[in-house]
Amino acid sequence: MKGLKKIFKNIENYCIIDLCEGMCFIMKKVLTGLQPTGVITLGNYIGAIKQMVDMQGKYDSFLFIADMHAITVPQDSIELSKNIRSLIALYIACGIDPEKHTIFLQSENIYHANISWMLECNTYYGEVSRMTQFKDKSKKNANFSVGLLTYPVLMAADILIYDIDYVPVGVDQKQHVELARDIAIRFNKKYGDIFNVPDALITKSGTKIMDLQDPLHKMSKSSDNQKGVIRLLDDEKTIRKKIMSATTDSEMSIVFDPENKPGISNLINIYSSLSGLSLAEIENKFKESNYGTFKKEVADLVVGELSIIQKKYYEILNSDLLDKVLDDGRNKTLAIAKEKYELMKNKIGIHR
Ligand code: AMP
Ligand code: TRP
Repeated sequence: MKGLKKIFKNIENYCIIDLCEGMCFIMKKVLTGLQPTGVITLGNYIGAIKQMVDMQGKYDSFLFIADMHAITVPQDSIELSKNIRSLIALYIACGIDPEKHTIFLQSENIYHANISWMLECNTYYGEVSRMTQFKDKSKKNANFSVGLLTYPVLMAADILIYDIDYVPVGVDQKQHVELARDIAIRFNKKYGDIFNVPDALITKSGTKIMDLQDPLHKMSKSSDNQKGVIRLLDDEKTIRKKIMSATTDSEMSIVFDPENKPGISNLINIYSSLSGLSLAEIENKFKESNYGTFKKEVADLVVGELSIIQKKYYEILNSDLLDKVLDDGRNKTLAIAKEKYELMKNKIGIHR
């Protein structure tokens, strides 16, 4: 199977290869790690999660909570454990189908840290100390942990254990995936063919959602003014208030023109992403309306979509689905990781 995978590695745009005779299917493997910190915004939902939902089923997908990466910087332990369950529940509520992804907690698979150690011993100090994220984060706090330095090696372990083909990441993580590639190539050269060499897949944000108060900037969870940011778990009253007080302009035309009318254009984008209507269809639909009427329609749509997500979220949070999903994910990934771990130990020579 591994040989076949290599043969087909350069064929672009395939997701499933039907080898007919043996009815054997090979899917490309992707892996996504999510840090259980911070809140999820309407921008994350429209720009990233909805795209993941659209893509699901086309790849053999591993989705995990990078809780061990989260502790490379100080965390409140109660907050952190709450965030871990909350994040998985929210992703599932947003449409991530646990049947189509292997979902697990990084800390529940003990091989990640063990394999990370073996990789660390084959990674140079110079390589990790050059990482841009390390340089930025270590500047902010002089008492940074060693974990902050070795963070990208643990990330390499997350990826290399499962022979992942593609790692969808934002540009800020591209350098880390490149390090994972370098480590894999070096390890393979030294010990034989052990790891698949992964590629970063730079996630194109879907529609970029802007801050409602400051539509020239991206809606961001870390924004100082949360009035311009819709969080997925905001209540109805808050969502309506944020949308009704969104910055617009002094004209009265609902026309998509991001340069001259960034506020209205942002609302049109939100409306389009959630309704499926094109920008032109929206302009036409609201050509007689004023801004107040349009904002109310946008608010109705956002409240409608988020209330369904929130209802599912609380149901999932209070059901045993989460534990079932995580137990299955843990058992499956432990078996795969154990095999890789034993192979590495044997090749390195740390065995009886
Ligand atoms: P971040 O919250 O910056 O870690 O981003 C997580 C994912 O959400 C990335 O794929 C981003 O491109 C996407 N994302 C974050 N904020 C927005 C936004 N305002 N509009 C569209 N996509 C976004
Ligand atoms: N470092 C990533 C982030 O902060 C999270 C992460 C950890 C990850 N391990 C990974 C992402 C492996 C992709 C692959 O977003």
